[in-house]
Amino acid sequence: MPVTPANKSFALFGACFGPTIRAEPVNHGGLGLPPRKVILDVDPGIDDALALTIALFDPRIEVVAITAVGGSVPPERAVRNVQTIIENLDPPRWPRVGAPTISDRPLPADNCHIFGADGLGNNDFAVSELHHLHPAVKIISDEIRAAPEEVSIVCLGPLTNVAGAFRREPALATQVGQLLMMGGALAGGNVTPAAEFNLYSDPGAARDVFRQPATMTLIPLDVTRQVAMTFSDLDRLPSEATRCGKFLRKILPFAFRTHRQEYGLEGMYLHDTVTLVAALHPELFTLERMAADIETQGELTTGELVLDRRAVPQWRHNLYVATKVDTAAVMDVVMRGIAAAARAG
Ligand code: BDR
Ligand code: CA
Repeated sequence: MPVTPANKSFALFGACFGPTIRAEPVNHGGLGLPPRKVILDVDPGIDDALALTIALFDPRIEVVAITAVGGSVPPERAVRNVQTIIENLDPPRWPRVGAPTISDRPLPADNCHIFGADGLGNNDFAVSELHHLHPAVKIISDEIRAAPEEVSIVCLGPLTNVAGAFRREPALATQVGQLLMMGGALAGGNVTPAAEFNLYSDPGAARDVFRQPATMTLIPLDVTRQVAMTFSDLDRLPSEATRCGKFLRKILPFAFRTHRQEYGLEGMYLHDTVTLVAALHPELFTLERMAADIETQGELTTGELVLDRRAVPQWRHNLYVATKVDTAAVMDVVMRGIAAAARAG
């Protein structure tokens, strides 16, 4: 049954703001108070940066950590960009920053054609030297272990870190509050005809995560593509006199230009920001329980989200997938989130 605003007592991102439902076979029933602590796992990326901007100033969540992962940009660049974003925005509470695993395996793709060679619109931001950062997988493990069932993870890049944390400490899968992931596509990918970028970038990690007994929700391309920031939204950004306005006015125009060149779109997709909004406002999304896996070896289909939608499914349901979104309301939340970040100074 779809989970809609009409039956949302049965809903969904329990981790953040509603009752929590766990995927079979783990049945924890109602999990008591909804957790508010969030880890953001990101590969910034201009749309990750916008999601972070909103999250870091939202009083309803506590961003306990931002963990960097290679994806849209290489891992070294991802962690540097996380630090750049925090330093430029200077939020009231600075989260812990987790360093990505540096792998020998080259990334199968990147998004530098959309976000710039540096991932943040080629702005040449100065940033402090990064010393003594803990690995992302350790931070994820520590935070979940310290507050079982209270910490949710919003994954806005490949699932490398989350899979790594579960491999390191399998018990975490039943201790994490909720996993909310931007990824996958029901009807055609973006990086290949079959696959969406985040799942394609580390399909083995995605498969491992999907097989965990955690409560998981996927916000796929089909939903995120329904929301785009327009040039008129760009004009309404806060003034450069604010840290948020100054930062977003530096990075967003680059992505608008590349979206026009690459996609012919008069606007910018907000895949990651939409996913963050799903954590903050689950009532704006319709979810369906599905049985999902990932293709890891296909010649044409590596990274494809495969769903068992047979008349009599043989796989067990393992996650929720968003299938509808209230586009206007999400965009309203985005613009109000940006305004709130700007009010901080
Ligand atoms: C995903 O890939 C990147 O373009 C975005 O940051 C988003 O996380 C969309 O496929
Ligand atoms: Ca991303």
